[in-house]
Amino acid sequence: MSHKIILDTDPGIDDAMALFTALAHPAIDLIGVTTTFGNVAVSQATRNALTLLEMAQASHIPVAQGGASPWIVPTPPFPDFVHGADGFGNLHLPLPTTSAITQPAPAFMVEQILKHPHEITIVAIGPLDNLATALQLNPEIAQLVKQVVIMGGAIEHDGNVSPVAEANIYCDPHAAEHVMAASWPVVMVGLDVTHQVILDRALFERIRDQNPRVGQFMYNAVQFYMRFYGSIRGIQGCYGHDISAVAYVIDPTLFQTIEGSICVATEGVAIGQTIIDRHGLSSYALKNWNHRPKQKACVGVDAERLRALFESSMTNEFWGQ
Ligand code: RIB
Ligand code: CA
Repeated sequence: MSHKIILDTDPGIDDAMALFTALAHPAIDLIGVTTTFGNVAVSQATRNALTLLEMAQASHIPVAQGGASPWIVPTPPFPDFVHGADGFGNLHLPLPTTSAITQPAPAFMVEQILKHPHEITIVAIGPLDNLATALQLNPEIAQLVKQVVIMGGAIEHDGNVSPVAEANIYCDPHAAEHVMAASWPVVMVGLDVTHQVILDRALFERIRDQNPRVGQFMYNAVQFYMRFYGSIRGIQGCYGHDISAVAYVIDPTLFQTIEGSICVATEGVAIGQTIIDRHGLSSYALKNWNHRPKQKACVGVDAERLRALFESSMTNEFWGQ
């Protein structure tokens, strides 16, 4: 049984890994890609999504452009020091020859969810502006979506934009708060698990050698990305953050989760922090978590099995020989 997904993304080097995994894995039916600002401006994110689908020979999949800026906070600077100015490690590839559809991302999400009730999983691997706007556009989707899986947040683990905030949540905290407060099934795949999965150079060398379609691109793009993580985290490799959100849809048994209402700090020094009430105590003086649905948050992962899932997806028969 395959899962129909819409991938909401800000490509982004780990976004590329996630999109390729979604394309190649037999358990996933990628019915659309929506783009948001985040790692790059939304115009660049859209060009990058079109480029990835072209190189993967999957240009039949529609791309809908989404939000250029956060709901309320100012647009944060794009992290060109992580993904390069072009979002692909400064490879500066030729422009794509295909175009996005004219329908905006949030409307595309709503239309697809209404067309396929209880079948669509939204996998959001960038800031959550499109997802929150889709919910605002038609609140019914909360009851009609199958699941919402996001790469974002941190529960017990440090943040990556501040000691407590993860980038996707930090970039649009008000949108993230709207998503967490809604009555739909959210799974938060945060730094607690994505920082446990290191992808090393040898892995990308094998992908380069065994994937004739996108292997060389993936290998070239991660050079810049690995230099960044080597310099700031001292690791020999990089984090494939976004892969974990797609992997959760493919095989949730890879992860250990906890449940509780989640609030997002939308101001102050902790802005962008995701705070879970794992005990549901009604005795708290602060009532923000009361009457808010419980969501799932990943706190553990089988890193070896996840790496194997990624590598097998990147080197399987989908890519031809
Ligand atoms: O914090 C990691 C997240 O921020 C990933 O989605 C990465 O692509 C960036 O968007
Ligand atoms: Ca991303």
